[in-house]
Amino acid sequence: MVYNIAIDGPAGAGKSTIAKRVAKELSFIYVDTGAMYRAMACYLLDQHVDGTDQGAVASVCCGAGISIEYHNGEQIVLLNKENINGRLRTEAVGKMASLTSANPKVREHLLELQRNLAASQSVVMDGRDIGTTILPNADVKIYLTASSMTRAKRRYKELLEKGEDCNLEEIQKDIEERDQRDMNREISPLCQAEDAVLVDSSEMTIDEVVAAILNVFWKKTKK
Ligand code: DC
Repeated sequence: MVYNIAIDGPAGAGKSTIAKRVAKELSFIYVDTGAMYRAMACYLLDQHVDGTDQGAVASVCCGAGISIEYHNGEQIVLLNKENINGRLRTEAVGKMASLTSANPKVREHLLELQRNLAASQSVVMDGRDIGTTILPNADVKIYLTASSMTRAKRRYKELLEKGEDCNLEEIQKDIEERDQRDMNREISPLCQAEDAVLVDSSEMTIDEVVAAILNVFWKKTKK
């Protein structure tokens, strides 16, 4: 039996931390779809494409051969056969991914890869449109969110721990701009699927969020 759990929500809501933990508890594969959009952003940056030029993005994106492998449970993203995990988490790549993930050709390019991963194995997949577009028949759909201030504080702490120079207000502004782009784009905007369970993690610990999601899963699958 193959199960699919879809976790959608805005940037910084804790989707990847939570999805990884839920996947581990259930021995499912964790699929980080944001990493695929980030891999596409790396490719477009390498090709010196202007992320605001949607025509150029559409014509160049098809050259990005993106695939996924798992090494000891960790997702490895390959861009034209090269492991690019180390490049995915910079602010420049995040910004480019936010600009270019609104492009229909980019989304079309990545849709099949995401559906194929979920068709053959039980997955916890996180992203923005997993419950609405990619896996409309997922067994469990979660919309995970938190206030923009909570999300900015989490990101601020992460960057400080990495020794990066940062400013909380700028991070919050950036998060809110990203939300606007993700929620207002024409194709596959970020929104809560009708049958998704809303989890607001602003005042919850990681353990509480994981337990809440597992609870939804057990209830749904025990029917
Ligand atoms: O979750 P993340 O920050 O790694 O995602 C990077 C960008 O990709 C973000 O701007 C939203 C976009 N994205 C998307 O449009 N659809 C998804 N399923 C996952 C991410």
